[in-house]
Amino acid sequence: MNEVRITPSILNADLSHLSDEIAKISSVSDFIHLDVMDNIFVPNFTFDFDRASSIIKSSPVPIDSHLMVADVDEIAIAYAQAGSASVTIHVEAVRDIRRTTRGIRAAGARAAIALKPASAIEDYEEFLSEIDMVLIMTVEPGFGGQPFIEEMLAKVSATRRLIGDRPIWLQVDGGISLSTIERAHDAGADTFVAGSAVFKSEDPASMVQALRQAVSHH
Ligand code: DX5
Ligand code: ZN
Repeated sequence: MNEVRITPSILNADLSHLSDEIAKISSVSDFIHLDVMDNIFVPNFTFDFDRASSIIKSSPVPIDSHLMVADVDEIAIAYAQAGSASVTIHVEAVRDIRRTTRGIRAAGARAAIALKPASAIEDYEEFLSEIDMVLIMTVEPGFGGQPFIEEMLAKVSATRRLIGDRPIWLQVDGGISLSTIERAHDAGADTFVAGSAVFKSEDPASMVQALRQAVSHH
């Protein structure tokens, strides 16, 4: 495995100056990770569809939409149609994984499934042929700035084994920083969300580059 991707989350950016915040990191980021929360699936609210849609359409960097919303089946396809490069649905929030991931792909986006810390990847092996990325949450979804859950490293390794030769990206999200990214990479992750590590640093672009550097040497 050699290719890695850094996908900064704007959850902890200054949302009242979002285009300036995105501009700080756009030249060094592979995707912008957009955390969509509905205050039902998680106890926090971020963007409604109209706001998210305008962010997706105006972003200079492809958008990786992480949908932490209940009843995600229909809205996931709308996020793909709105121009997301990738749409991630939670297995705990979807009624029909196959139908939804096929709809996302048919709308031209990459399709991904996300697992909360308590969900087991083995239960979803049959869907690996339908998706482009697995997101292993390394915190409970809902808030930025939480500590990385070390126990998730074993799940990352197990997911990497199940993926085998398939061209599926393996993303980690939650508590990724210079002190955790290498262990996540060693366990098999290749796509890294970082929110507070990037936007709470003095120089967000340099932090993105430092994170990339930390996982690019092996
Ligand atoms: C948590 C979100 C994450 C979060 C990451 O529910 O899905 O994307 O913003 O933030 P940090 O990197 O601060 O854990
Ligand atoms: Zn996220």
